[in-house]
Amino acid sequence: RMAHCPRFDAALKIPQACKMTIKVMFMSLQQEDSVRTLGAEGLFLFSSLDTDHDLYLSPEEFKPIAEKLTGITPPVDFEEEVIHDPNGETLTLEAKMQPLLLESMTKSKDGFLGVSHSSLSGLRMWKNPAVPSSSFSASQFRVFLPPKNKGEVGNTWWVIPSELNIFTGYLPNNRYHPPTPKGKEVLIHSLLSMFHPRPFIKSRFAPQGTVACIRASNDFYYDITFRIHAEFQLNDVPDFPFWFTPGQFTGNIILSKDASHVRHFHLHVPSNRSLNVDMEWLYGASESSNMEVDIGYLPQLELQATGPSTPSIIVDEKGNIIDRRDGNSEPIQFVFEEIHWASEISQQEAAQRMEVTLYPFKKVSYLPFSEAFERAEAEKKLVHSILLWGALDDQSCSGRTLRETVLESSPVLALLNQSFVSSWSLVKELENMQQNPVLSEKARLHLEKYSFPVEMMVALPNGTIVHHINANFFLDQTSMKPEEEEGTFSFSGGFEDPSTSTYISFLKEGLKKAKEYLAE
Ligand SMILES: *[C@@H]1O[C@H](CO)[C@@H](O)[C@H](O)[C@H]1NC(C)=O
Ligand SMILES: *[C@@H]1O[C@H](CO)[C@@H](O)[C@H](O)[C@H]1NC(C)=O
Ligand SMILES: *[C@@H]1O[C@H](CO)[C@@H](O)[C@H](O)[C@H]1NC(C)=O
Repeated sequence: RMAHCPRFDAALKIPQACKMTIKVMFMSLQQEDSVRTLGAEGLFLFSSLDTDHDLYLSPEEFKPIAEKLTGITPPVDFEEEVIHDPNGETLTLEAKMQPLLLESMTKSKDGFLGVSHSSLSGLRMWKNPAVPSSSFSASQFRVFLPPKNKGEVGNTWWVIPSELNIFTGYLPNNRYHPPTPKGKEVLIHSLLSMFHPRPFIKSRFAPQGTVACIRASNDFYYDITFRIHAEFQLNDVPDFPFWFTPGQFTGNIILSKDASHVRHFHLHVPSNRSLNVDMEWLYGASESSNMEVDIGYLPQLELQATGPSTPSIIVDEKGNIIDRRDGNSEPIQFVFEEIHWASEISQQEAAQRMEVTLYPFKKVSYLPFSEAFERAEAEKKLVHSILLWGALDDQSCSGRTLRETVLESSPVLALLNQSFVSSWSLVKELENMQQNPVLSEKARLHLEKYSFPVEMMVALPNGTIVHHINANFFLDQTSMKPEEEEGTFSFSGGFEDPSTSTYISFLKEGLKKAKEYLAE
């Protein structure tokens, strides 16, 4: 059984452009060759390293193997490396863990019958945090500071933005080694590396990334709540991948506004539900191999600061410099003033705001096909309808994919909310409606305008399609080079990305055409 439906985005990727198809055909010829040379398992390992799928390994792609064989990790060239202030404050974090309760897994009911021993080896062996205690400089935590224009209590923002959308789909399953973290990813990666050496700070599936919210502030401090969607790869070559995906990581940090001092830091996987981890493992040497899914309970995975950050060098009353790093000086007691917040919201409120940032589609509802037309009729709106290729067996999954797409950008949401009733359907569902006396005509009109793999449509409440756009065409329009974009999309000013402005244009064109129809 397939665990979920990554085939959906495979379908989206293939017809991206004709040249793409040609490349794929060419590649599969080469791939046959590669299987002959390496065998299926060998090719699988090779592909897990060949991240750009060009069938050649660059030094960067070969790095994980080099590190494994030599045991040497070359120093990482951090893009946004914090200027290291040797006199700055340091903070010690401790990692705590209680391993996943194997008996909480569904598969344990039949004694893991049919689950090969090697599949679970990474899970069975992971009993303790990889790094029980680690020191950080306080200034590293500046990644949690809000962007300039977001300094108000209650504001949320993306610390690590999600890069998933309808066209990128999901990230591949056949990977063992996380990509080199860049910029703000570096700290999050270091934090999660304390639990396990292979954290992927960008999960394969949405939600992906890290969001934060200012829960409280005063003149000097912020209390920032955050939520991270990341996962771990527990297996390594030669075992097949095993993905361990906690429901979420959440926590908070109290830090000074210049990030020179961290008062408090806590990060954990919430464990107040009976199940809090998703697990998926592969049973073969290809991306389309069978996958097994299970869920389980992880009692504890937690990082906690041992205390506030403290300076390494202190000047005493007599002007003597005490370097606490030399280890000879006596322990020094620090006294920290109490923090009084000038403005704050509750923890629940902050969590709620982060939730909406992570799942913006929650702001607009997608109704079933028939309801959408009734509602549109009643509210004198148009139907914004999305029709998807039907070869999916897991419908909730396709819905999930869609809602986490371009449709969640705020200008698109606002326009959808104002003038449209939204709906999405599978081709198969509409084909089944052909027998339905009330809906058959509307379904037929939809199918008439449909082409593989996804068609976005604007319809009148009576079912007439006034405008439609194919996902591939849309993709071509939005995948222009940055220079081209600037000229083409300058009219829409203010939208950060071309897919948003293209989608807005599509919806507006639909509104315009609908007016023409209704005027007739
Ligand atoms: C778990 O704890 C969080 C935060 O304390 C709370 O918001 C949530 O409702 C709790 N969930 C359950 C199932 O108890
Ligand atoms: C949708 O519109 C209603 C009123 O027309 C408004 O109250 C609501 O906040 C809007 N929602 C979004 C997400 O724009
Ligand atoms: C829907 O209404 C429009 C405008 O009144 C009309 O042109 C069109 O033919 C109608 N379509 C159907 C399927 O009745």
